[in-house]
Amino acid sequence: MDNNIVIPKHIGIIMDGNGRWAKKRLLPRNMGHKKGAEVFQDITRYCNELGLESVTFYAFSTENWKRPAEEVNGIMSLLKEYLIKAFDYEKENNRVVFLGDKSAFSGELLELMLDIEEKTKDRTGMTLNIALNYGARNEIVHATKNIAQMVKNGEIDIDDINEELFSNNLYTKGQPDPDFILRPSGEKRISNFLLWQIAYSEFVYMDVLWPDFTRKDLDEAIMEFNRRNRRFGGV
Ligand code: FPP
Repeated sequence: MDNNIVIPKHIGIIMDGNGRWAKKRLLPRNMGHKKGAEVFQDITRYCNELGLESVTFYAFSTENWKRPAEEVNGIMSLLKEYLIKAFDYEKENNRVVFLGDKSAFSGELLELMLDIEEKTKDRTGMTLNIALNYGARNEIVHATKNIAQMVKNGEIDIDDINEELFSNNLYTKGQPDPDFILRPSGEKRISNFLLWQIAYSEFVYMDVLWPDFTRKDLDEAIMEFNRRNRRFGGV
């Protein structure tokens, strides 16, 4: 990529369009998720090469449980299989963080998630956030409860509550807010993703379906981000 291009610190990606990709090929929806998981791995590597500080992938939302059981089970076994076999977190220097309410998970999948987080927690490379059973409203309620508990315990005073303290009680604590949110597949919605963190983020929407998404598409999104004139409310 051009040397004058500013590389964002943190990109949030809504991996959308897996179902439509499969439908176009007369394949089961879970084949779209499988291809989507491969693209996730390649784009993660590319974000590493580009030198991002953080990248957040929206893999499964609190609302996605409403999908047919076959699809939910398919995504969960794909995730499990993927975390065991294909996910090369051991070779990379990424710190892996699962954003979301883990209480919905149990058994092998939960063990894998906790194990990966523990093994990678002191790494200094890119932070790879995987949002699983994630919903931004849920995250905000969770942070509010933590803070209320601290007040109740007498650890902090109500006047100590400020934006920084609030941010530090979110799943993304300590990370820069996303510079931009990228949503492929032509949809233009935020779908309960990082609502607190996107206060000043740019939005880049692309027509490509996630399983067809390439490194070149990410280059284009970063170029589009560079064309935006970010003023953070100033002049
Ligand atoms: C949205 O497409 C995609 C999902 C709800 C699941 C995404 C999950 C993966 C790509 C697997 C992730 C794996 C790892 C290891 C992180 P959609 O089904 O809503 O597509 P549609 O809008 O075309 O129906």
